[in-house]
Amino acid sequence: MRIIVAKDYAEMSKRAADIIASQIRINAHTVLGLATGSTPVGAYEELVRQYNEEGLNFGNVDTFNLDEYIGLGADHPQSYRYFMDEHLLSHINMDADRAHVPDGLAQNPEQECEEYDRLIRDLGGVDLQLLGMGGNGHIGFNEPNDIYTAETHVVNLTESTIKANSIYFNNENEVPRQAITMGFRTIMQAKKVIFVVSGKAKSKVVKEALEGPITPKLPASILQLHHDVIVVLDQDAASEMKLKDNFIMTDDQLFR
Ligand code: PGA
Repeated sequence: MRIIVAKDYAEMSKRAADIIASQIRINAHTVLGLATGSTPVGAYEELVRQYNEEGLNFGNVDTFNLDEYIGLGADHPQSYRYFMDEHLLSHINMDADRAHVPDGLAQNPEQECEEYDRLIRDLGGVDLQLLGMGGNGHIGFNEPNDIYTAETHVVNLTESTIKANSIYFNNENEVPRQAITMGFRTIMQAKKVIFVVSGKAKSKVVKEALEGPITPKLPASILQLHHDVIVVLDQDAASEMKLKDNFIMTDDQLFR
């Protein structure tokens, strides 16, 4: 595991975006796994800037988002499809057919999950997966649980997630109770993972996830077992960690 501690949110976002951009420059046909939430917004802004100002080319990129609320369609402002269009996809030269988000309105969500995994497999899996983390340690919508679920699946959201995400809705009752999320197999089989965490509020959970026991009760802890994960934290998020100097990597060490 390689850990970068950035001085603040802006630097964290720049570092994460630079890693994603480098991946696309190395392999124009990259399959990206993407995340929603407030944490990656700055990285998406920087990617849009690099598209506009530095010719970063998304023309051959495929993307798969981690999750989507069940019951929300692409035109709902709180759907993750809408989020992706607003923050990234509508600003870059991506082919709309190659930007995948689970369909929250699918008639048969289980079939949608199977189809989603099949599409990812057909494209050879995810090359680079961007991940954030919820305050309860979830990645995607893989909530704390007794087991790690391998496949894309339907989840019941926990009360803490419903509460945390209610800030984006008029009230808690409007937050969907279920979602479709990628499972741990796709995430753990991604060739590279970037894990971004920002802010003091998550400092204890991220320390537990990266330095504590590996358990599905703290879903992000499984990342300790991934063979190529780059953690990008801001100083606030890193404030509880017992970092050793040799964990902190410079750019040239990241792309050997
Ligand atoms: P946040 O959400 O970036 O808005 O904190 C992350 C998540 O819930 O995965």
